[in-house]
Amino acid sequence: MNNRTISHIIEPQLVIEGAGVLLRRSFGPHASNKFDPFLLFDHFAFNNPLEGPLRGFPTHPHRGIETVTYMLEGTVRHRDSLGNMGTIAEGDVQWMTSGRGILHEEMPRRSENGNIYGFQLWVNLPAAQKMNQPRYQEVGTGDIPVIEKNGVTTRLVAGEVDGVTGPVGEITAAPLYMDVKLDPGSRFSFPIPSGHTVLAYVFEGAGEFSNEVVESVSMVVFADNGEQVEVKSDAAGRGVRFMLIAGAPFKEPIVPYGPFVMNTREEIEETIRELRNGTFIKP
Ligand code: CO
Repeated sequence: MNNRTISHIIEPQLVIEGAGVLLRRSFGPHASNKFDPFLLFDHFAFNNPLEGPLRGFPTHPHRGIETVTYMLEGTVRHRDSLGNMGTIAEGDVQWMTSGRGILHEEMPRRSENGNIYGFQLWVNLPAAQKMNQPRYQEVGTGDIPVIEKNGVTTRLVAGEVDGVTGPVGEITAAPLYMDVKLDPGSRFSFPIPSGHTVLAYVFEGAGEFSNEVVESVSMVVFADNGEQVEVKSDAAGRGVRFMLIAGAPFKEPIVPYGPFVMNTREEIEETIRELRNGTFIKP
């Protein structure tokens, strides 16, 4: 099997979102839709308790997308217009399908040692499902399968590894989303269908991705030229940890506008009209 090579590496940029949350963004929604079906990848990792209380993301709408929140340290409290509320705790995942619309708030809280560490991925919905009912899949840390083999530890959120299926299902993009940790001296290879978008967010250590050394923190974008992804820990013996993200593109035109991603300008205009006249949330 041929290994996919690296197309390019993105250096995440600092951005301020919500009510003043500083985060590292690898990419955000754009009409060019280069990472189809993925729209955004953000990394919360600002651990200075002197920053004081976190202001979080006060009530905001979403339509036409899915947001996937994975916390490694600290928690996120959430509450929405449909009466759902809860806490995404350490090691948990929340896969939120906004469909036609929700209004929610997301409030990060520090862990006992003052840290916050987590990721939010946005996945597109195909045109035919953008106006479906909203849905949540909440997975506690204990329900995420951990696969340990030859120095590689994988926490599987969505997709399939060695006959084990991740807990998040029925997602149209058939995504693969997993947290992969390689001990020094280990190697990982994983088959990915050709045509699928493949990304790796390297957040600890350094590794060889298709024989190129990649240091954390970096977003690796793979070319569509092979049947598998191969990663090795680097020669300096540091080990590496990354989120592996892959999925089938929808190949539909998109029109992003803030927290909405639709297919046409008219659909965005209609969304804004509904927000203004109070018909955005459908019973
Ligand atoms: Co949100």
